[in-house]
Amino acid sequence: MALLEINEVSKEYTRGGHAFNAVNHVSLCVDGGDFISIIGRSGSGKSTLLNICAGLLEPSDGAVLFEGKDIYDLKDKEISFFRNAKIGYVPQGQSLLSNFTVLENVCIPWFLFKREGDAEGRAFILLEKVGISHLAASYPKELSGGEMRRAAIARSLMNNPSLLIADEPTSDLDAATTAEIMRLLNAIVQKETAVLIVTHELDTLNYGNKTYTMDAGNLTPHAA
Ligand SMILES: Nc1ncnc2c1ncn2[C@@H]1O[C@H](COP(=O)(O)OP(=O)(O)OP(=O)(O)O)[C@@H](O)[C@H]1O
Ligand SMILES: [Mg+2]
Repeated sequence: MALLEINEVSKEYTRGGHAFNAVNHVSLCVDGGDFISIIGRSGSGKSTLLNICAGLLEPSDGAVLFEGKDIYDLKDKEISFFRNAKIGYVPQGQSLLSNFTVLENVCIPWFLFKREGDAEGRAFILLEKVGISHLAASYPKELSGGEMRRAAIARSLMNNPSLLIADEPTSDLDAATTAEIMRLLNAIVQKETAVLIVTHELDTLNYGNKTYTMDAGNLTPHAA
């Protein structure tokens, strides 16, 4: 059974009296161990698609199955718990909370639902893994763009998700930092978390085992 399977998913928006499909009849399958990258221009529907996959945005049409179950059949509380337990999410742009330290930011997903255990200890290990444990006590405004992305990736891994979804995790970073972040994501896949990322950068295509292009809401396998 696929980890995530979306079938004929569409999202319709209306703007200025005109209706259009930001995501248009998209089907996609993510298996355990997959590293899938989707590239596409700004406005092509990438974030809309990721939000649908992450359980954050109900599609107008089609089904989103996670481990065989339609996540949008779940009640609000169940879907929140599902997201928190199974999905690691790195949103587009800066998403750390400014009044919390890096370590506290990484801990947040742990405390959204009652859990036992040493949250700070686990968060620190994740910060070591992403290479910024020396910044644990710093605040987001004291970090570089690449360091903030690393912190957001550590946060997304806090609850040991089955699927990590990252929305342009390398935007605005230089080529060397982009390569480091992509290598980091690649290492995460090897530890059995599947990764689904979107980006508009062609140089991220060297990573991942499946690549797709998104254009005006349509998803097609990327021609090499
Ligand atoms: N709530 C909304 N209502 C109406 N239109 C929307 C809404 N959200 C997004 N859109 C439109 O849907 C299209 C897809 O948006 P989306 O954010 O998915 O694009 P994207 O590929 O992630 O772009 P970017 O690379 O700039 O982040 C765009 O034309 C956008 O303007
Ligand atoms: Mg986007």
